[in-house]
Parts: sequence; C-alpha cells; structure tokens
Amino acid sequence: MISARAVAGVLPGLAPATYARDHACFETRSDQRRLIADHLVTVLADRRIGPISMLSVGCGDGALDARLAATLADVLPTRPVRYVGIDPYAGSAAAFVAALSDLDRESLETQVHVATFDEAPVAGPFDVITFVHSMYYVPRVAETLRAAFDLLGPGGELIVVNAPRGVLNALVGVLAPPLEGHRQWFSDDVVAGFAEAGQQLEEIVTLEGRLDLAVASDAVLDFTVQARLTPELRPLVRAYLHAVSVPDASGEMRVPHPVDVFCVKRSDL
Ligand SMILES: C[S@@+](CC[C@H](N)C(=O)[O-])C[C@H]1O[C@@H](n2cnc3c(N)ncnc32)[C@H](O)[C@@H]1O
Repeated sequence: MISARAVAGVLPGLAPATYARDHACFETRSDQRRLIADHLVTVLADRRIGPISMLSVGCGDGALDARLAATLADVLPTRPVRYVGIDPYAGSAAAFVAALSDLDRESLETQVHVATFDEAPVAGPFDVITFVHSMYYVPRVAETLRAAFDLLGPGGELIVVNAPRGVLNALVGVLAPPLEGHRQWFSDDVVAGFAEAGQQLEEIVTLEGRLDLAVASDAVLDFTVQARLTPELRPLVRAYLHAVSVPDASGEMRVPHPVDVFCVKRSDL
C-alpha cells in the first residue's frame, strides 16, 4: 500500500456534484445514521415546551434533519418550529428544503443558506445547533465553535457529531488531499477545539456503528477515503477494510464505524 500510495501522488478530492449522491449510498451501508437520529431524538425530547429554533450546519440532503424536524413538530402540532440549514452545495441545500417541505407540517418554517458556516448570514438565537459530520471541513475548529456558541440563546445546546480517527479514518488521514490548506478534523481535534474555545463539554457519548463495505461500489469506496482512488489503490484499500472488519452480533463481518457526540450548553442566565 505504501509504495502504491507514493506512486499515486496527491489524489484528487471528491467532486461537489457527486458528493451528496455518494454520501447517500455510503449511508445505506451503515447503521450509524439511525443511531445518530435515535440519539438526537432522545436529546430533543427534553425540549417539549414552546417554540423551538434549530440550526443544522452542513445539513446535506436533509435526510437526518427531516426526521428531527418531524419529531419536533409532532410533539405539539401547533408548536412553531424554525429549522435553518446551512450547506455550501446548492444541490444539497435544495434537497434539504424539499425533504422538510415534504413533511407538510404547517408549524414548520424552513430556511436554508447556500454557504459555508463562515459566510452564512445566519441570525440567532437558536435553541439547538448541530454539526453532524460537517466539522471535518471547517477551516478552524475553535473559531467555528466560538461563532456557533454565540448563536445560541439562553439554555441552548451546541451538538457536534464527529468521527474519531479510528481504523476507518486512518485511511482518510493517509489518502485524502488537504482541504483548502488543512486536513480533515477528527474527534481529538474537536476536543482540542472545545478546550481552546474555553467551552465546557458535557459527557461525550460514542455510538458504535457498523459499516458493510464487503461489496461497496468504487464510488462508495472513494467516499469512504474522501479521495478519488486509483485502480491500483482500490484493491489494497478493500483488503485493508477486510482485515480490520470484525463480526457483528449475527456473525457478519463489518468495519467498526463509531461516532462521537459532543455537547456544550449555554446557561439559562
Ligand atoms: C458528510 S455530509 C453530512 C450531511 C448531513 N449533516 C448528514 O449527516 O447527513 C457533510 C456536509 O457538510 C457540508 N460542508 C462542507 N463544508 C462546510 C462548511 N465549511 N460549512 C458548512 N457545511 C459544510 C457538505 O456540503 C456536506 O453536505
């Protein structure tokens, strides 16, 4: 793998036009999104009273946010729910709006900004702000956390859902090209960012997902490593993924696909 990697040089990154489609295919091979949705629904269940405003940073196609928005709207059918998404890819932002509109809840007001978090003209306050699998891409973690915290209202929560480096993302570390001058940020970077921002973390929750990459397409494999692989590297990456797989409860071989959930709260005062 090391010599094939050296021969390949710096690999191209993922194309914006196909990112969302390949991400959706990748998610079908993992139980992680269901674990995240179940966890966030439990967190939101504590917020049963009054209007609520949510901000989803890096909302993607809204597949996860639609489930959360429906949960919030259905607690009280007349309860005003303001749900704002931010995503730099116009195709994903449009899909987010469509996914929430399809819920057809009168009390749900949806808005989206086609922009990076840094550039989005978003106005708080928000009760809950989520970064689900999007903190990897921001230029500076601590600065982003500070800016997000400032958008919270009293009693608000900032929730970051991010992958640890682990056996899976060791591949990203080796194979993915830098993003606008920085590598992708994993959980240890997020922990360091919270410390640098002076924000007090609640207990970190790890959700133990499992990923089935045994018959993954080339596009899903590329999404997995966040780079366009060469034909020489693909079989080596598949062999690595097979080697790090472990049997799940039914004995099927799966790649460990854990994700960490970080939360900070703004005091009520
Ligand atoms: C892995 S997807 C996650 C999408 C969605 N949150 C989910 O869990 O299905 C990461 C998303 O972050 C977006 N993104 C990338 N850089 C960003 C930035 N600087 N600010 C906000 N979103 C960003 C991407 O366009 C992409 O839709």
